[in-house]
Formats: sequence, structure tokens, C-alpha cells
Amino acid sequence: MSYQTLLTSLENNIYTITINRPEKLNALNKTVIEELSEAIDEVYNNPEIKSAIITGAGEKSFVAGADISEFLQLDATSGEALARKGNIKVFDKIENSSKPIVAAVNGFALGGGCELALACHFIIASENAKFGQPEVNLGLIPGYGGTQRLTQLVGKNRAMQLIMTGEIFSAVDAIQFGMVNKVVAQNELLNEVKKILNVIHTKAPLAISKVIEAINNFDHTQQGYDFEIQKFGECFSTEDAKEGAAAFIEKRKANFKGK
Ligand code: COA
Repeated sequence: MSYQTLLTSLENNIYTITINRPEKLNALNKTVIEELSEAIDEVYNNPEIKSAIITGAGEKSFVAGADISEFLQLDATSGEALARKGNIKVFDKIENSSKPIVAAVNGFALGGGCELALACHFIIASENAKFGQPEVNLGLIPGYGGTQRLTQLVGKNRAMQLIMTGEIFSAVDAIQFGMVNKVVAQNELLNEVKKILNVIHTKAPLAISKVIEAINNFDHTQQGYDFEIQKFGECFSTEDAKEGAAAFIEKRKANFKGK
């Protein structure tokens, strides 16, 4: 499928989605949101795709936020509708994907860009990456899940400070805050993410999807543990769990089929 604002490629079962508006630092306008939604549907529906990477075109920016030029006409009702639509069509859909979706953050990840990275299952960043939720500079707050997902990752007090100051922070800070898993040179970024995804591709796909579901259900209460127990049980109804145990006993490599 060809898009106006995205570049996509499928190689070794990894679907790379590149947001391609470098002249606007890959800001998320309505077309990008619509097309991202379609590209994520492709991740959900195409059996050739085992995992996906989201990144930005150019060397300067992952995504510098929602497109501010579209904010001028908004009122309370249309502002809420914009955020709700984006969350349903893109951010929540990424988070709830049964296949891993990783953010390769290659520059500015601000506002909606930071939230897009946070919606992914994990984040690998290049050395020049810069993160931040600067919405307060515009008289706004994050609307694509930033107050929720950032808080889960960095804790309440740090999220309060980062979102209230709108401070822009480095990839190294983001590692320390627990947001980013690894920082690499920019020219190594996609290879690094692909290396990790290739490891994940050797595991049982249904188990991977249950890992995502269970971790997304993280909860300090008994509900989180109960959910994990239920998902653990469900694994035993898969052919892959039988294959995994048999392969171990027979001292051979497992051949998982995603069934
Ligand atoms: N929405 C719309 N356009 C944006 C944008 C955004 N979020 N971020 C950058 N752009 C556009 C700029 O308007 C500029 O377009 P122009 O050349 O037609 O004037 C182009 O991208 C390049 O940006 P510029 O500001 O010239 O680059 P810079 O290197 O001087 O600054 C940033 C980079 C990221 C610090 C700066 O662009 C910025 O602060 N962007 C907004 C970040 C933000 O507040 N995001 C949250 C939105 S809720």
C-alpha cells in the first residue's frame, strides 16, 4: 500500500513504518494519524508481518508532536474528539497490538511524538534523540496518553515535573528515567531494533502476544496476578507450548508455528 505521509517496507517479517514529513519534523497531522491507523491495521492483519518498527524520516526528528497548525480552529468539543480519535485509531491500537511494535526514536520525540514512542512496546533511541512533553508551552496538556504512560514508566513525581516544566531531555536522561531501553549511534538505530526483533521472532508468537497482554494489564492489585495466571493457563492450549517442552526434552531447537 502506498501512503502520502508514510514510507513502509517489509523485510524479514519486520514492517518498518517511517513517518515522512521531514520538512515539518514529521509532525502528526490528520493525514498522518489516518495513515498510521491503516499501517497498524496492516500489522494486525498481514500474516507476513511478525513485528513492526515506527521511526521518523530524516536525521533530526522522530515526531515533533501533533501538528500545531491544526490546533488553531479547535474548541473544547473538537479538541476532545481529536484526542479520542487519535487514541483509538493509533495510540491504543499500537499498545494493544498482539505483535511487538518498537519505537526507533531518531531525533525529536516531543508532545504527540513522545506519546507515540510511549505507546510502543519499548523504545530504542539514537544518541541525538530528545524527548519531552512541552504541551504546557501551548496552554495544553498531553492528549495522546502522555499523563498516563509517562507516569507509569517514570513515576508520578518525575512525570509531574517533566510535564509541568515541558523540559526537553536527552536520550541518556530517558534511559535513567526508565523510558528508553538502549541508546545507540544514529546509523546503528534500525539495525539494533531489527536485531532485537529477530530474537523475538524465534519465540512462540502466541506466547509473545500473551506477554504483551499481561504486561499491558500490569496492576499492583491481585487483578494483575490473576490475569497473568489466566494467560499462563491459556498457553497450554497452544501447539507451540507442547513443541517448546518437547524440543527442550529432546535437546533440539523448537519449531514454533504460532498455533
Ligand atoms: N507542528 C507543526 N509544525 C511543526 C511542529 C509541530 N509540532 N514542529 C515543527 N514544525 C515545523 C516548523 O513550524 C517548521 O516549519 P516551517 O519551516 O514551515 O516554518 C519546521 O517544522 C521546522 O521546525 P523549526 O522550528 O524551524 O526547527 P528548529 O530546529 O528550529 O526547532 C523544535 C525544532 C522541535 C524545537 C521546534 O520545531 C518545536 O518546538 N516544535 C514544536 C514542538 C512541540 O511543541 N510539540 C508539541 C506539540 S503538542
